[in-house]
Amino acid sequence: MAFWFIFHIVLVFIFSHTNANLEGDALYALRRAVNDPDNVLQSWDPTLVDPCTWFHVTCDGENRVTRLDLGNAKLSGRLVPELGKLERLHYLELYMNNFEGHIPAELGGLKNLLSLDLFNNNLTGPIPSSLSKLSNIRFMRLNGNRLTGRIPRVLTKLGKLKILDVSNNDLCGTIPTMGSFSKFTEESFMNNTRLEGPELVGFVRYDNVRGCI
Ligand SMILES: *[C@@H]1O[C@H](CO)[C@@H](O)[C@H](O)[C@H]1NC(C)=O
Ligand SMILES: *[C@@H]1O[C@H](CO)[C@@H](O)[C@H](O)[C@H]1NC(C)=O
Repeated sequence: MAFWFIFHIVLVFIFSHTNANLEGDALYALRRAVNDPDNVLQSWDPTLVDPCTWFHVTCDGENRVTRLDLGNAKLSGRLVPELGKLERLHYLELYMNNFEGHIPAELGGLKNLLSLDLFNNNLTGPIPSSLSKLSNIRFMRLNGNRLTGRIPRVLTKLGKLKILDVSNNDLCGTIPTMGSFSKFTEESFMNNTRLEGPELVGFVRYDNVRGCI
C-alpha cells in the first residue's frame, strides 16, 4: 500500500516537473528567437526547474504558466510555434513591440486563452483560422500590424469573444456578421483599405470576386 502511494507521488512529481520544463523550453525558444535590446528576458534561465521565477511569467499553483506579460518591451523577431504548448496560458500579452513574420497557427492550441494581445507590432500574413479553437477567448486584439487575407469565417463561432480589434491592417474580403461578430462595430475593422463592408446575410457572397490574399 505505502509503496504504491509513494510510487504515485513520485510519478505525479515527475510529470508535473516534466510539464514545467516543457513550458520553460517553449518560452526559452522565444527568448532565442527574439532581439531583446533592453534585456527584459535576462532572468529567463533555462537551467531552472520551471519558468515560474522568470520575470514577465506568471504560473498557477501547479507551476504551469498562466500569463506572459511582454507588452511594450522593445522586442523584435519572430513569434515561435512553441508558444502553442503553453496550454494553461490565459493571457498572451505581446503588444507594442516590433514582432514580425506570421502569427503561428500553433497558437490555436492555447485552449485556455482568455486574451490574445498582439496589437501594434509588424506581423504579416493571414489571421490563422486555427484561432477558432480558442473557445474561451474574450479579447483578441490584432490591430496595428500588416496582416493580409480574409478574416476567417470560423472565428464567428467564438461565442465568448467580447472584444475584437483587427483595425489598422491590410485585410481584404468581406466583414463577417454572423455569430459573435454580430456585436462588433466597424471600429473593430477600420483602416483596412481592401476590406469590403459587412456581408449581407442571405445574399451572394462577394468573397471570391476579387483577388484577396
Ligand atoms: C517592419 O518589417 C519590415 C520588413 O518586413 C521592415 O522593412 C520595416 O522597417 C519594419 N517596420 C518597423 C516599424 O520596424
Ligand atoms: C492604417 O494602418 C496602417 C497599418 O497598420 C498604419 O500604418 C496607418 O498609420 C493607419 N492609418 C491611419 C489613418 O490610422
